[in-house]
Amino acid sequence: MPKMVILTGFMGSGKSSVGTLVAERLGCRYIDLDAAIVEAAGCSINEIFARDGEAAFRELESAQLEQLLLVGEGGVLATGGGAVISPRNREVMRKCGLVINLKVTLDQVLARLHGCSDRPLLAGDDAAQRAAALMKEREQFYADADIRIDTDGKSVEDVANEILCRLKGFSA
Ligand code: S3P
Repeated sequence: MPKMVILTGFMGSGKSSVGTLVAERLGCRYIDLDAAIVEAAGCSINEIFARDGEAAFRELESAQLEQLLLVGEGGVLATGGGAVISPRNREVMRKCGLVINLKVTLDQVLARLHGCSDRPLLAGDDAAQRAAALMKEREQFYADADIRIDTDGKSVEDVANEILCRLKGFSA
Protein backbone atom coordinates (compact mmCIF):
# COMPACT_ATOMS: atom_id res chain seq x y z
CA MET A 1 0.00 0.00 0.00
CA PRO A 2 1.57 3.37 -0.94
CA LYS A 3 1.86 5.89 1.88
CA MET A 4 0.03 8.65 0.07
CA VAL A 5 -2.61 8.18 -2.60
CA ILE A 6 -2.93 11.35 -4.67
CA LEU A 7 -5.96 11.96 -6.84
CA THR A 8 -5.74 14.28 -9.84
CA GLY A 9 -8.37 15.16 -12.40
CA PHE A 10 -10.37 17.93 -13.96
CA MET A 11 -12.94 19.91 -11.97
CA GLY A 12 -15.99 17.71 -11.50
CA SER A 13 -14.11 14.42 -12.00
CA GLY A 14 -15.17 13.29 -8.52
CA LYS A 15 -11.81 13.54 -6.71
CA SER A 16 -13.31 14.68 -3.40
CA SER A 17 -16.20 12.19 -3.22
CA VAL A 18 -14.06 9.30 -4.43
CA GLY A 19 -11.15 10.31 -2.18
CA THR A 20 -13.38 10.52 0.88
CA LEU A 21 -14.75 7.03 0.23
CA VAL A 22 -11.36 5.47 -0.51
CA ALA A 23 -9.91 6.97 2.69
CA GLU A 24 -12.86 5.69 4.68
CA ARG A 25 -12.41 2.18 3.27
CA LEU A 26 -8.67 2.24 3.90
CA GLY A 27 -9.17 3.64 7.39
CA CYS A 28 -6.79 6.51 6.71
CA ARG A 29 -7.15 10.28 6.66
CA TYR A 30 -8.60 12.22 3.77
CA ILE A 31 -6.99 15.51 2.83
CA ASP A 32 -8.47 18.05 0.44
CA LEU A 33 -5.92 20.41 -1.08
CA ASP A 34 -8.49 23.13 -1.85
CA ALA A 35 -9.71 23.02 1.75
CA ALA A 36 -6.12 23.34 3.01
CA ILE A 37 -5.62 26.40 0.78
CA VAL A 38 -8.84 28.01 2.03
CA GLU A 39 -7.82 27.39 5.61
CA ALA A 40 -4.32 28.79 5.12
CA ALA A 41 -5.56 31.85 3.21
CA GLY A 42 -8.51 32.49 5.51
CA CYS A 43 -10.84 33.10 2.57
CA SER A 44 -12.61 31.24 -0.24
CA ILE A 45 -11.06 30.20 -3.55
CA ASN A 46 -13.35 32.65 -5.34
CA GLU A 47 -12.03 35.44 -3.11
CA ILE A 48 -8.39 34.47 -3.71
CA PHE A 49 -8.91 34.52 -7.49
CA ALA A 50 -10.88 37.81 -7.38
CA ARG A 51 -8.52 39.62 -5.03
CA ASP A 52 -5.08 38.27 -5.96
CA GLY A 53 -5.49 36.47 -9.29
CA GLU A 54 -4.78 32.97 -10.53
CA ALA A 55 -0.98 33.21 -10.22
CA ALA A 56 -1.30 33.95 -6.49
CA PHE A 57 -3.68 31.02 -6.10
CA ARG A 58 -1.19 28.71 -7.85
CA GLU A 59 1.56 29.80 -5.47
CA LEU A 60 -0.61 29.01 -2.46
CA GLU A 61 -1.59 25.72 -4.07
CA SER A 62 2.03 24.65 -4.63
CA ALA A 63 3.07 25.70 -1.13
CA GLN A 64 0.23 23.76 0.50
CA LEU A 65 0.79 20.72 -1.71
CA GLU A 66 4.45 20.58 -0.87
CA GLN A 67 3.81 21.06 2.82
CA LEU A 68 1.19 18.30 2.93
CA LEU A 69 3.31 15.86 0.96
CA LEU A 70 6.65 16.55 2.55
CA VAL A 71 5.30 16.25 6.08
CA GLY A 72 5.08 12.64 5.06
CA GLU A 73 1.93 11.50 6.85
CA GLY A 74 -0.06 8.98 4.86
CA GLY A 75 -3.57 9.30 3.55
CA VAL A 76 -5.62 10.09 0.48
CA LEU A 77 -5.10 13.53 -0.99
CA ALA A 78 -7.54 15.07 -3.49
CA THR A 79 -5.86 17.87 -5.43
CA GLY A 80 -7.52 20.74 -7.30
CA GLY A 81 -7.92 20.30 -11.05
CA GLY A 82 -5.09 22.70 -11.86
CA ALA A 83 -2.49 21.36 -9.42
CA VAL A 84 -0.97 19.30 -12.23
CA ILE A 85 -0.04 22.35 -14.32
CA SER A 86 3.19 23.01 -12.43
CA PRO A 87 6.08 20.67 -13.33
CA ARG A 88 7.39 20.98 -9.78
CA ASN A 89 3.99 19.93 -8.36
CA ARG A 90 3.93 16.91 -10.65
CA GLU A 91 7.44 15.97 -9.62
CA VAL A 92 6.65 16.23 -5.89
CA MET A 93 3.44 14.24 -6.33
CA ARG A 94 5.15 11.42 -8.21
CA LYS A 95 7.96 11.36 -5.64
CA CYS A 96 5.76 11.36 -2.53
CA GLY A 97 2.90 9.10 -3.46
CA LEU A 98 0.97 7.09 -5.97
CA VAL A 99 -0.73 9.43 -8.44
CA ILE A 100 -4.15 8.31 -9.64
CA ASN A 101 -5.86 10.33 -12.34
CA LEU A 102 -9.63 10.31 -12.67
CA LYS A 103 -10.57 10.72 -16.31
CA VAL A 104 -13.83 12.48 -17.06
CA THR A 105 -15.57 13.62 -20.23
CA LEU A 106 -16.41 17.24 -20.97
CA ASP A 107 -20.14 16.40 -21.00
CA GLN A 108 -19.93 14.94 -17.52
CA VAL A 109 -18.00 17.94 -16.23
CA LEU A 110 -20.58 20.35 -17.62
CA ALA A 111 -23.47 18.32 -16.23
CA ARG A 112 -21.90 17.98 -12.79
CA LEU A 113 -20.82 21.59 -12.46
CA HIS A 114 -23.97 23.13 -13.89
CA GLY A 115 -25.15 25.82 -11.46
CA CYS A 116 -21.99 25.66 -9.32
CA SER A 117 -20.58 29.08 -8.49
CA ASP A 118 -17.38 28.05 -6.72
CA ARG A 119 -15.17 27.42 -9.76
CA PRO A 120 -13.78 30.85 -10.74
CA LEU A 121 -12.16 29.49 -13.92
CA LEU A 122 -15.56 28.40 -15.21
CA ALA A 123 -17.56 31.45 -14.17
CA GLY A 124 -19.51 33.32 -16.85
CA ASP A 125 -21.28 32.53 -20.09
CA ASP A 126 -18.54 30.79 -22.06
CA ALA A 127 -17.83 28.16 -19.37
CA ALA A 128 -18.24 25.25 -21.80
CA GLN A 129 -15.64 26.61 -24.23
CA ARG A 130 -13.23 27.40 -21.42
CA ALA A 131 -13.67 23.97 -19.84
CA ALA A 132 -13.00 22.34 -23.22
CA ALA A 133 -9.85 24.40 -23.79
CA LEU A 134 -8.53 23.77 -20.27
CA MET A 135 -9.18 20.04 -20.53
CA LYS A 136 -7.30 19.84 -23.81
CA GLU A 137 -4.41 21.88 -22.49
CA ARG A 138 -4.13 19.78 -19.32
CA GLU A 139 -4.55 16.30 -20.79
CA GLN A 140 -0.77 15.82 -21.11
CA PHE A 141 -0.39 16.67 -17.40
CA TYR A 142 -3.19 14.38 -16.26
CA ALA A 143 -1.52 11.62 -18.28
CA ASP A 144 1.53 11.98 -16.00
CA ALA A 145 0.07 9.54 -13.44
CA ASP A 146 0.79 6.05 -12.14
CA ILE A 147 -2.77 4.92 -12.78
CA ARG A 148 -5.57 6.41 -14.89
CA ILE A 149 -9.17 5.49 -14.20
CA ASP A 150 -12.04 6.11 -16.54
CA THR A 151 -14.98 7.46 -14.52
CA ASP A 152 -17.45 7.65 -17.39
CA GLY A 153 -20.79 6.11 -16.46
CA LYS A 154 -19.43 4.89 -13.11
CA SER A 155 -20.70 5.73 -9.63
CA VAL A 156 -18.45 7.08 -6.87
CA GLU A 157 -18.63 3.62 -5.31
CA ASP A 158 -17.53 1.95 -8.59
CA VAL A 159 -14.56 4.26 -8.99
CA ALA A 160 -13.54 3.85 -5.33
CA ASN A 161 -13.72 0.05 -5.66
CA GLU A 162 -11.60 0.15 -8.78
CA ILE A 163 -8.97 2.22 -6.97
CA LEU A 164 -8.98 -0.14 -3.98
CA CYS A 165 -8.50 -3.09 -6.33
CA ARG A 166 -5.64 -1.42 -8.16
CA LEU A 167 -3.97 -0.42 -4.87
CA LYS A 168 -3.62 -4.08 -3.92
CA GLY A 169 -0.98 -4.40 -6.61
CA PHE A 170 1.23 -1.70 -5.11
CA SER A 171 3.57 -1.89 -2.16
CA ALA A 172 4.74 1.03 0.00
C1 S3P B 1 -9.18 24.56 -10.29
C2 S3P B 1 -9.91 23.55 -9.70
C3 S3P B 1 -10.57 23.71 -8.40
C4 S3P B 1 -9.85 24.77 -7.55
C5 S3P B 1 -9.71 26.04 -8.32
C6 S3P B 1 -8.93 25.87 -9.62
C7 S3P B 1 -8.57 24.32 -11.63
O1 S3P B 1 -10.59 22.47 -7.69
O2 S3P B 1 -8.59 24.31 -7.16
O3 S3P B 1 -11.01 26.55 -8.59
O4 S3P B 1 -7.68 25.09 -12.03
O5 S3P B 1 -8.96 23.34 -12.29
P1 S3P B 1 -11.55 21.22 -8.10
O6 S3P B 1 -10.84 20.45 -9.18
O7 S3P B 1 -11.65 20.43 -6.84
O8 S3P B 1 -12.83 21.78 -8.55
